[in-house]
Amino acid sequence: MRIFLDTANLDDIREIARWGIISGVTTNPTLLAREGKNVRDVIVEICEIVNGPVSMEVVSTDAEGMVREAREYVTWHPNVIIKIPMIPEGLAATAILAREGIQVNMTLIFNPNQALFAALAGAAYVSPFLGRLDDISTEGMDLIREIVAVFRQDAHLDTQILAASLRHPRHLVEAAKAGADVATCPPAVIRKALKHPLTDIGLERFLNDWRQLEATLTREVARVS
Ligand code: G3P
Repeated sequence: MRIFLDTANLDDIREIARWGIISGVTTNPTLLAREGKNVRDVIVEICEIVNGPVSMEVVSTDAEGMVREAREYVTWHPNVIIKIPMIPEGLAATAILAREGIQVNMTLIFNPNQALFAALAGAAYVSPFLGRLDDISTEGMDLIREIVAVFRQDAHLDTQILAASLRHPRHLVEAAKAGADVATCPPAVIRKALKHPLTDIGLERFLNDWRQLEATLTREVARVS
C-alpha cells in the first residue's frame, strides 16, 4: 500500500516528504481554507515537493462547472489530479474527464455502490471516508473490505482504492490489510505511527553504551601514553 499525505500544510509536507514514504498528496477545500493562502501557489508548491498525484477538489456542483474547473486545475502542474464529489453531476463530470485522460479521485464515498459507480464512470481513484463512518458508529474498515471485494470481482476495473479520513495509526495498518491501494494520512497520524517507546529507549541505551565505550578507550589511551 502506498501512502499519500492528507494536508495542504507545506511545512508538514516538506518535513515528511524527506522521509521517503510519501507518493502523493490529497487536499480538499477545508484543508486549503485552513492554510489561508493562494490556492494555486500552494498546489504548485506541493507538486514541486512531492513527485506524485496531488488532488485538487472542484467546488462546482454541476458537471459543466466541474469540468471547467478540472481543465483549469490540470494546467497548473502535470501532477494535479481532480477530486470530484460523489453526486450524479460528479459522475457525469468524471465520465467526460476520464475520456479526456484527466485523472479523477472521486471523493465522499460512503458505500460500495458509490465506489462501483465511480469506477464505472472512469475514476482513477475512489476515496472511501473511514473515520467519518466510525464517527457515526459504523465500522469504516468494512467499507474498504467490501470495495476491495467488489473491484476484485471485475478484472476490467483498474480504479485504485484510496482509504481516506484516517484518524489513527491502526487505520493505516488495517487499511493495508484490507487491501487498499493507497491510504491518505494526516501528518499527525504519520507521526504517531512511526513512534514507539521501545525505539526511543533502545536508541538511548545504544548511545549511552557507546559514550561509555569511548570514555573507557580515552582513559586507556591516557593510561598507556
Ligand atoms: O481526504 C479526505 C479527508 O481529508 C477527510 O478527513 O478527517 O475530515 O474526515 P476527515
